[in-house]
Amino acid sequence: MKFGHFDDARKEYVITTPRTPLPWINYLGSEDFFSLVSNTAGGYSFYRDARMRRLTRYRYNSSPLDMDGHHIYIKDGDTVWNPGWQPTKTELDSYACRHGLGYTILEGEKNGVSAAQELFVPTGDACELDRLTLKNKTNATKELDVFSYVEFCLWDAIDDSSNFQRNFSTGEVEVEPAIIYHKTEYRERRNHYAVFWSNTPVTSFDTTRDAFCGVYGGPADPQAVRAGHCSGSIAHGWAPVGALHIHVTLAPGEEKKILFGLGYIENPQEEKFTAPGVINKERAHAMIARYATDAQVDAARKALADHWEALLSTYHLESGEEKLNRMVNIWHQYQCMVTFNMSRSASYFESGTGRGMGFRDSCQDLLGFVHIIPSRARERILDIAATQFEDGSAYHQYQPLTKKGNRDIGTGFNDDPLWLIAGTAAYLRETGDWSILDEQVPFDNDASKAQSLMEHLRRSFNFTVTHLGPHGLPLIGRADWNDCLNLNCFSEHPGESFQITGPSEGPVAESVFIAGMFVKYGHEYAELCDHLNLADEAAAARKAVDGVEQAALTSGWDGAWFRRAYDAFGKPVGSKECTEGQIFIEPQGMCVMAGIGKETGQAAQALKSVEERLDTKYGVVLHQPAYTSYQLNLGEISSYPPGYKENAGIFCHNNPWISCAEAVLGHGDRAFEVYRKTCPAYIEDISEIHRTEPYVYSQMVAGKDAPTFGEAKNSWLTGTAAWTFFNVSQYILGIQPTLDGLKVDPCIPHTLGGFTVTRRYRGATYHIAVDNTAAVQYGVKSVAVDGKPIEGSLLPLAPEGAVVEVQVTMG
Ligand code: BGC
Ligand code: NOJ
Repeated sequence: MKFGHFDDARKEYVITTPRTPLPWINYLGSEDFFSLVSNTAGGYSFYRDARMRRLTRYRYNSSPLDMDGHHIYIKDGDTVWNPGWQPTKTELDSYACRHGLGYTILEGEKNGVSAAQELFVPTGDACELDRLTLKNKTNATKELDVFSYVEFCLWDAIDDSSNFQRNFSTGEVEVEPAIIYHKTEYRERRNHYAVFWSNTPVTSFDTTRDAFCGVYGGPADPQAVRAGHCSGSIAHGWAPVGALHIHVTLAPGEEKKILFGLGYIENPQEEKFTAPGVINKERAHAMIARYATDAQVDAARKALADHWEALLSTYHLESGEEKLNRMVNIWHQYQCMVTFNMSRSASYFESGTGRGMGFRDSCQDLLGFVHIIPSRARERILDIAATQFEDGSAYHQYQPLTKKGNRDIGTGFNDDPLWLIAGTAAYLRETGDWSILDEQVPFDNDASKAQSLMEHLRRSFNFTVTHLGPHGLPLIGRADWNDCLNLNCFSEHPGESFQITGPSEGPVAESVFIAGMFVKYGHEYAELCDHLNLADEAAAARKAVDGVEQAALTSGWDGAWFRRAYDAFGKPVGSKECTEGQIFIEPQGMCVMAGIGKETGQAAQALKSVEERLDTKYGVVLHQPAYTSYQLNLGEISSYPPGYKENAGIFCHNNPWISCAEAVLGHGDRAFEVYRKTCPAYIEDISEIHRTEPYVYSQMVAGKDAPTFGEAKNSWLTGTAAWTFFNVSQYILGIQPTLDGLKVDPCIPHTLGGFTVTRRYRGATYHIAVDNTAAVQYGVKSVAVDGKPIEGSLLPLAPEGAVVEVQVTMG
């Protein structure tokens, strides 16, 4: 069942009922100011850091669901309604929610009045704009009362939800006729405030929740709205809100637009006050003036559209597969940008208060957005590298505001260092900007310990070399990619592996997955050495890689697939010797991607085992059989009921690894089948089972052992975004940036007769037409560049500004 449809021409998903199985959200903003907005106007806003600079309050895990948000009420006689249905839930005569690129439009109609609430964050500014377009479709004059309402958060979202003895006394506001300033904490060292305004004169306002909602009321039925008037309340402590009321008269057929804005202002310390206790409003006034007229708001919308057009046109596909085009051209890349902005911090599943930026997560995210915003990828790489330790290990997470490593969570995830090589190598392949390797980057944010980025990569590489276990495989530490495989953490508290203080690193537990990573990224590292004329280092690196590759092929091999690990007692994990957890997805994907066992036939055998044992109609599960009971020697993985999360869920993130691995072996049909099974556009029809947004990936889909098989959770912020785009653009469609230029090497379903990709790359534009009338899955027969045949499939580098016509024939 579907709850809407794609509108590809407008690059939107159009939701046609407010009663989606879960709130379906969108993200506004791509610089400093961000808002989450659901299809019923739920959500919240923050400036840069979802924990420290939370502008509006949001109650997670509450019932009823998703009541806090960006609400506009329309009172028409006795009927009160919202264009997005919630929070009044007044039945609408028509409803649609259009989630587009950086904007959302909620369209409601009731009793002959149509209302469109258009929400977006303009580029280059720290505010959310909510423009309401009202139209009277009747033959009679309409007298309407419009209320816009937000509930302020007292900035630090954790403190806001816990430290009430203090918070009930700190709230402060100032009011100018159509402007409400939320200035809690401004009197102390903080120098920021929020501003909530309208471009239209207001009839009345409120700034206390008690006055607007009523002490025992709530956003579903605010007493001020029912009364048709606010009471001019001024907040002193308790819960400051912004509520602006505008009376609107609409003649038959008449349309009016009203703008509401929510902005963030930061004043330099010396400019904080204009008189004792009176905040300096200059910057707020300037912001308000930027959107005073409708034409200004239109221009801001246009600038936002142009911004997204420029970003997404870096990679554009035309093929006979409508759903593939839609995902590649719009939603995959859009989700990659959102994961770049948010990392894993703020979604409807991530509270914005917990995790900062993940070291491994952010490195992998790079794979999906480096082609779109290479300069920001460069910055991101340097930020991440600056949190690394001198021995090559890394903080697992860092805080976006301070960019410092997060000490609570600490270190010891032994895959982390290698992801830095993965991200940096991807950046170099995309840009050819070798200067990044010379950048001086601190260790543990200590500038006195700065070394070149290349030295950081060297330490990443050497970290594995110096942390090999008894079988010559890399030690796993606290965990590898699978956070929940805690082979050294004998946790008495399942689910708290990050808090464990006991032994987190051991001399015995090893990871075959990291072995695969080391081979893959070790080769990439050696190529960088080649390029820098470090021949000896390259040779030594390849030697170390060969050693680990051999270990993977022998001790890491179980007979028909790669083992997952060895536990702290030296027992295999992911082996036929185990009763549960006999085969895992991760090493099969990573080792085959690394080319391990390609010659010996082990790679093909491993993927065959995946297909036989792990595949389901909704994707490939993490392992089989699922763990049925908690096991101390495995850790958090076995704390989940079978089929959920890391205990045999379908982790969308590593499904692309299998697809990539199939492509490495030239299996285009199967690579595409694996891609398709978890791909949002292809499973839109089962939205009632899947439940999360049908336009983006979720982290996890319940596996076949779960009673809710096929149900997704944790939408939006997942490494799936980057890996899927990386897979489909580079492995399946085969447009591969290399250190020396673009290479074309598709691995597609034999039924795909061909396709065209327009790819901007190092300043030139390549139109690449691939012909597959031969109906093969893999293999390039000939390549012509600007009409002239070339040897091989590496396209010669074109000068900046050039437009290159490439004809590729498969066969
Ligand atoms: C989850 C993992 C997640 C980790 C880090 C665990 O509880 O199951 O998927 O990576 O927490 O927050
Ligand atoms: C989510 C985490 O963000 C990611 O780093 C990890 O690899 C997966 N969970 C699997 O545990």
